[in-house]
Amino acid sequence: MGKKVLVVGGGGRCHAIVDALSRSPQVSKIYCAPGNAGIAAQAECVPLKDTQVEELKKFALDNSIDLTVVGPEASLALGIVDEFEAAGLRIFGPSKSAATIESSKDFAKRLMAKYGIPTAAYETFEDYAAAVEYVRGHSFPVVLKYDGLAAGKGVVIPETFEEAESVLKDMLLDDKFGKGKVVIEDFLTGPEFSLMCFVDGTRVWPMALSQDHKRAYEGDKGPNTGGMGAYSPLPFITDEDLSYSIEKIMKPAAAGMVAEGCPFKGVLYGGLMKTPDGVKVIEFNCRFGDPETEVVLPRLESDIYAIFSAVADGTEMPEIKWSEKATIGFVMASKGYPGHYDKGFEITGLDALESCENVRVYHMGTASVHSSEGQDKVVTSGGRVLMVVGFGADLHDAHANALAAVEQIHCDNLFYRRDIGWRVL
Ligand code: AMP
Ligand code: GLY
Repeated sequence: MGKKVLVVGGGGRCHAIVDALSRSPQVSKIYCAPGNAGIAAQAECVPLKDTQVEELKKFALDNSIDLTVVGPEASLALGIVDEFEAAGLRIFGPSKSAATIESSKDFAKRLMAKYGIPTAAYETFEDYAAAVEYVRGHSFPVVLKYDGLAAGKGVVIPETFEEAESVLKDMLLDDKFGKGKVVIEDFLTGPEFSLMCFVDGTRVWPMALSQDHKRAYEGDKGPNTGGMGAYSPLPFITDEDLSYSIEKIMKPAAAGMVAEGCPFKGVLYGGLMKTPDGVKVIEFNCRFGDPETEVVLPRLESDIYAIFSAVADGTEMPEIKWSEKATIGFVMASKGYPGHYDKGFEITGLDALESCENVRVYHMGTASVHSSEGQDKVVTSGGRVLMVVGFGADLHDAHANALAAVEQIHCDNLFYRRDIGWRVL
């Protein structure tokens, strides 16, 4: 009997997970909650939000789901894994306590300090006056991180004392992000990269490397976003950098979580920076990265269901193989993102790309609506709308394929960066 899988989430990352699962010879049925217009072509979408943990659990029990895979941090921070496991359900993802490695910057920094994991020097503050005094004596720029989930908007890097003071006021006096602490850390320099690993307790298996582009506009200008594009592999990360990152960062972090009594199971995402003093941690996430997953999983040649099972069950891991091909993905986002944007704009040109061998379009924020002519059309329904991934023998080739594809997609309200991968192209 083929396996039935439930994927929780509805963005581009989940589309890439569904896509990888659909290549598994073991999987016969995929559900996705809530999914989106693109995911609907490969999975049965279930109208439940990623935060409706009770309802999701009932769905998994009623439908004899063999394995649930969780995409978003919100579900993990709510304890979806603990709830499912208590009900005897198999699920891929970290427990609520292990998910703290992402939801609390302060917890992550203390873990790194305790287990000697390289990262920027820092102090944590709850008191506004004490934080302002500390920043007064600090060099600039300085990095201010709100200690909680803030959808990528909780990090501010002021250039001046006055700016820092006003950000601290927002974070600690006016509670603009919620009630919480602030981590103040040294500003590091160097290229950033993402190392996602499958982790089960002290066991760590690295995925192919990727790099995200966080700023909204070309030339790395404009506000920080959830990510405007990504590519894989990364020629500027040497084998030495990689083995250092695995041995001195990812493995000690996994072992540290076990020692702290909150063993990690799932994807541990290292947001790393290659600084002049070696590789250091910028952040840890407790899940697949978005949009990194959309360029990494298409390179996976092994059966992802077998990988998820080995982690979920604590059994032997099969060999994990990555293809030699390169991938580059452009995010097409709603005009105005990451600020205010409107939704509901029709997207055309997607059908013609479906048969294109060197392109894969992952839907991030789309919906399907019935038009008056009785036909379904795809419309924008989020800030980040599509991740258009090009494949190639090398990154140049992949870039050309991705660019040719985005130029065939038409919508009145989308923008994208053409310079994804500029560091290596
Ligand atoms: P985070 O949410 O912690 O990943 O931070 C968001 C972005 O802020 C990162 O991707 C970096 O570009 C930047 N950033 C965070 N911490 C530092 C740091 N210590 N030095 C320089 N840049 C940083
Ligand atoms: N692309 C960064 C993240 O997923 O957090």
